[in-house]
Amino acid sequence: MDLQTSNEIFHERYAVKKFNADKSLTQEQVQIIKNAIKMSPTSYGLQPFEVIEITDSKIKKELQPMSWNQNQIVDASHLYIFCAYNEFDKDYVADFVNKAADIYGFGKDEAEGRTDFMWGVFKDQTREQRAEWARKQAYLVLGFTLAAAAAAHIDTCPMEGFEPEKYSSYLNLKGQNLTPLAVLAAGVKSEDDKMNGAPKVRREEDEIIKTK
Ligand SMILES: Cc1cc2nc3c(=O)[nH]c(=O)nc-3n(C[C@H](O)[C@H](O)[C@H](O)COP(=O)(O)O)c2cc1C
Repeated sequence: MDLQTSNEIFHERYAVKKFNADKSLTQEQVQIIKNAIKMSPTSYGLQPFEVIEITDSKIKKELQPMSWNQNQIVDASHLYIFCAYNEFDKDYVADFVNKAADIYGFGKDEAEGRTDFMWGVFKDQTREQRAEWARKQAYLVLGFTLAAAAAAHIDTCPMEGFEPEKYSSYLNLKGQNLTPLAVLAAGVKSEDDKMNGAPKVRREEDEIIKTK
């Protein structure tokens, strides 16, 4: 992708306010989103998150009042609820290292050493510190997915405007060790979305990027 194309993509992408409820993502577009979620980098590669995909209109309708009544929740064909793990343990780290051992072909001793090293970073942290780290990773995946969707001209809206406690109860997330952080609504924008092509409001580059 050349520089001009990437700049155009950054301007073309915007947080869609009005999706066309009669149109849906194609299977190919859905797969681009899923691949981005899967392939996003995370610290140590531990991926301490899960994303819940919702396409069922009844569920979307029930989520809308828990989402500040925002229309994107019902009109976007696909919702991806980004959730972080509330807790993970040494076995979780070991499972990841063993997967890497299978792929790279290193042995049991090295796997144990790597697990001890990685778990050593987390073991003295509080449960909340680990949860906070997991939440950061999940947000990173959200950002990566937004950029990937933009590059593929897929219309999205990242959304924090919902009630996490209500989502948790409705989707039984606590029982699954998950905290919902943000929703990625994805679909096809409506032709008359007022924000389509609207000027961007951004701080200047030199206000946010400092050269030392
Ligand atoms: C984490 C996050 C949460 C957001 N939550 C909402 C939301 O609940 N509803 C909404 O309409 N837009 C939401 N937005 C969109 C932002 O308002 C938007 O990205 C920002 O104003 C910049 O505009 P642009 O993305 O159109 O360039 C959210 C954006 C992010 C990154």
